[in-house]
Amino acid sequence: MSGYRIACVPGDGIGVDVVAEARKVLDAAVAAHGSSLEWTDFDWSCERYARTGTMMPEDGIEQLSGFDAIFLGAVGFPGVPDHVSLWGLLIPVRRAFAQYVNLRPVRLLPGTSTVLAGRTAEELEMVIVRENSEGEYSTIGGRHDRGRPGEFAVQEAVFTRAGVERIIRYAFDLARTRTGRVCSATKSNGIIHTMPFWDEIFAEVAADYPDIASEQCHIDALAARMVERPDRLDVVVGSNLFGDILSDLAAAVTGGLGMAPSGNINPPGEYPSMFEAVHGSAPDIAGQGIANPVAQILAGAMMLEHLGETAAAAAVDAAVETVLAEGVVATPDLGGKATTTELGDAIAAAVRG
Ligand code: NAI
Ligand code: MG
Repeated sequence: MSGYRIACVPGDGIGVDVVAEARKVLDAAVAAHGSSLEWTDFDWSCERYARTGTMMPEDGIEQLSGFDAIFLGAVGFPGVPDHVSLWGLLIPVRRAFAQYVNLRPVRLLPGTSTVLAGRTAEELEMVIVRENSEGEYSTIGGRHDRGRPGEFAVQEAVFTRAGVERIIRYAFDLARTRTGRVCSATKSNGIIHTMPFWDEIFAEVAADYPDIASEQCHIDALAARMVERPDRLDVVVGSNLFGDILSDLAAAVTGGLGMAPSGNINPPGEYPSMFEAVHGSAPDIAGQGIANPVAQILAGAMMLEHLGETAAAAAVDAAVETVLAEGVVATPDLGGKATTTELGDAIAAAVRG
């Protein structure tokens, strides 16, 4: 019986609740396929920050480095500024482990409805490939003349040839396994250094993939298109910021944030990859036991797939689809009255068959 060592960081708010449900489902799925997950828990969170002054211990990255994968809930809670929780845990992990791909698949699942009238599941299926290690999320810059009338802030974006090329190549390779279309999010009309650079590299890489249809679209128009003609999109590749925004939008049009999973992937496999939901810790509903665990469960399916447990991953996907299609057990965001635990239990039961 082969086991996988998983570092589990439930984090804050609903992260804790949805991770507990996802673990039930994943344990059931791997057990049915002759394997096991060996979980190690880490209490790294805003609550830890309040207690100790840091989100994770100084050797946190080292502690995680020996694991096969990292399963993260969400971090962030009122009382700790969001840039502190993000830069104190999530971003250091993504960067130290070169998880330069943030893969965010979205699709309209059975039994759920979209805010877009008349759109079908076939038309709403895409994947956002977000650059996850550089770009607009940089520490270069500063605040000046604080408190004076001339106060100002400068924030530099960092785009490297290697960083841009590898994420775009990843998108094209992925398109070969899907519908063969890639759309690049740009804004080279307004952002005149980094975005023309991005576009040039996109064109160079596209030339290596004559079998894949490629196009680029300015981020503002692309946002509108995601709502008006989502059927024309399949693989969408974007910078750290653009990919972040587009993936929340994509999730919103395909059934909501409660359904959207995400993988922070180190493609060469030199370091552990990290799997989480797209959503955050949702302080507005935290502690009520009503968060939808599906996004976290689907993130778990992505983790199993990444570990090579393809059959167990497919079993989790199928169980989610079965339970959602029945529509009997549904959390409030899906129009039902079920609790997080009730939906998690129903999906775990469906996995066991
Ligand atoms: P959020 O994703 O936590 O919540 C946005 C809205 O969606 C809320 O109304 C929430 O109730 C709803 N929602 C989210 N997930 C849901 C679920 N599973 N079931 C039902 N409803 C759900 O984003 P928000 O409010 O901007 O951020 C809250 C905190 O989370 C902040 O501290 C933020 O920094 C942090 N955050 C952390 C992330 C991470 O750890 N990767 C990602 C995004 C935000
Ligand atoms: Mg986001």
